[in-house]
Amino acid sequence: MTEQSGDQPIPVIIDCDTGVDDALALLFAVRHPGLDVRAVTCVAGNTDVDGVVRNTLTVLEQAGAADIPVARGAARPLIEPARSAPVHGQDGMGDLGLPAPARRPVDVDAVTLLRREILASPRPVTLIPTAPLTNIALLLRTHPEVTRNIERIVFMGGAVTTGNATPVAEFNVWHDPEAAAVLLTAGVPITMYGLDVFTRVLVPAPDVARLRASSEPRLRLAGELLAHRDPATSGDPTPTGGLGDAGAVCAVADPAGLTTERLPVEVALAPGPSRGQTIVDRRPRHGESEIHDGFREQALVDVALDVDVERYVKLWLTTLEGN
Ligand code: BDR
Repeated sequence: MTEQSGDQPIPVIIDCDTGVDDALALLFAVRHPGLDVRAVTCVAGNTDVDGVVRNTLTVLEQAGAADIPVARGAARPLIEPARSAPVHGQDGMGDLGLPAPARRPVDVDAVTLLRREILASPRPVTLIPTAPLTNIALLLRTHPEVTRNIERIVFMGGAVTTGNATPVAEFNVWHDPEAAAVLLTAGVPITMYGLDVFTRVLVPAPDVARLRASSEPRLRLAGELLAHRDPATSGDPTPTGGLGDAGAVCAVADPAGLTTERLPVEVALAPGPSRGQTIVDRRPRHGESEIHDGFREQALVDVALDVDVERYVKLWLTTLEGN
């Protein structure tokens, strides 16, 4: 995993589809002293790309980080039509009635901004996609030279076990499976922060209530967003909020909180019920397929298998609430 070298913050770029939990990721990233957010790029996913741009700009303004360049990216996946995630509300931000942003995105597209910021960075950049991987695939295919200055890609997507968009496919990968396949073969170190850990990092109800009652707009927003993410699946009657995508940013700031294993991963691309599934090979030994048909080259990915929930919740809260 990416380690913070000395006192220098890690240069990061977040590619997002803001999105309730993308917003939680941005609120954290811009305040963490160990992270230097050099750009934020937007892609269609949780809502349409113009909505994503609007939400991203608003969140950065509320976070007091209105100087970070934001670019508009792909309006739809490489092959599929865009299919938004209704769980984020009509506006992609939980329909909280947030103000329109005062500024506009930069006048270059996301791929151009990604290339520019990656190559201009004095130290290799960590990319954090928390969205369908369309922009990243377009970047890798258009400007493959960027990989020389990418430290690692830590993406929220995929699942070892159960999916959400389908029984086996996680939303970001399902939305653009071809793009995810391009990402996995980028030839740079990759961490998959999948649903297996994503769903576990929950902020306790008293913390959510404290944030919602805050007089600081940025903290109130965080509380409202967390309250919107009450996990109906937890079976716990106490409302709690999932950090979701923000956990992937915590994993960059504090890699020791994540347990990963380097495993072969590939994306199911065939039409049908498995499309978009991330197939993670956890077998202890090769099987008959390898014995009879030989070996296929597969990407090796650092797959997140466990997360220190308490550690990341504390990290996220202290970063947001610290002075
Ligand atoms: C992912 O899908 C979106 O709804 C969330 O923002 C997250 O990135 C989880 O499957």
